[in-house]
Amino acid sequence: MPDPSAAKRKPLISGNWKMHHNHFEAIQVVQKLAYLLGSDDFKEVDVSVHPPFTDIRSVQTTLFDQKRSEIAVGAQNCHFEDKGAFTGEVSPAFLPKLDVQYVIVGHSERRELFGETDEMVNQKVKAVIKHGMTPIMCCGETLEEREAGGADEKVTGQVRAGLAGLKAEQVGAMVIAYEPIWAIGTGKTATADDAEAMCRLIRETVEGVAGEEAAAAIRIQYGGSVKPANVKELMAQPDIDGALVGGASLDPEEFAKLVQYRLLEA
Ligand code: 13P
Repeated sequence: MPDPSAAKRKPLISGNWKMHHNHFEAIQVVQKLAYLLGSDDFKEVDVSVHPPFTDIRSVQTTLFDQKRSEIAVGAQNCHFEDKGAFTGEVSPAFLPKLDVQYVIVGHSERRELFGETDEMVNQKVKAVIKHGMTPIMCCGETLEEREAGGADEKVTGQVRAGLAGLKAEQVGAMVIAYEPIWAIGTGKTATADDAEAMCRLIRETVEGVAGEEAAAAIRIQYGGSVKPANVKELMAQPDIDGALVGGASLDPEEFAKLVQYRLLEA
């Protein structure tokens, strides 16, 4: 196992807006965020925002106008096919044209509410990479699975299935987000120790699948009720390389505090 403290992984803080903010609101939010974050922040941390699809063009042009802010544009999902008769779906081929750099894949809400399987998640990860973007592949267990002692098995199974058939260097360049389902939108955060233990296990699983180098390079985010009050402790963990933030990313001032977690009181 590579020594994680030896690795230099730049943290990635991502805001998943889910189905919030229309495109007028989105413009205001990213304008404010671009104003609050400066070049010093981007030296330390990568930042992405993941608005609804209908906002992405507006967010792209707003960020371009804001002195080409280094805030990266992200998507929340995409289909795995490039084109075809898939009513209502969005092709991964369309997204790089909108400067999308990161795509969330296999969020638990997509898995639980929209029937996404491990196999579909794997196909989507491959499609995102094929189009030159970075997947943020989500995994996480339900409360029942955790209480029954099945959390490790669920998460490692999702990770192995999601990475199937990828080259080691592709795995090393991607992002995995560990989001325990019971911590999403509930105000209950995993303790920093529990989050670290699972992120460590994910890194060990990646090592088993893709080798030491990929395991040392891959960025692993924690997600689930991340707020200014808990972000610093989470980010201090050796195997946590960022955060995937829902509720607290909707308000630009709150989200800027998360990006600037180093400046928060412990
Ligand atoms: P909350 O931060 O609102 O708990 O959401 C987490 C999440 O699902 C991010 O993808």
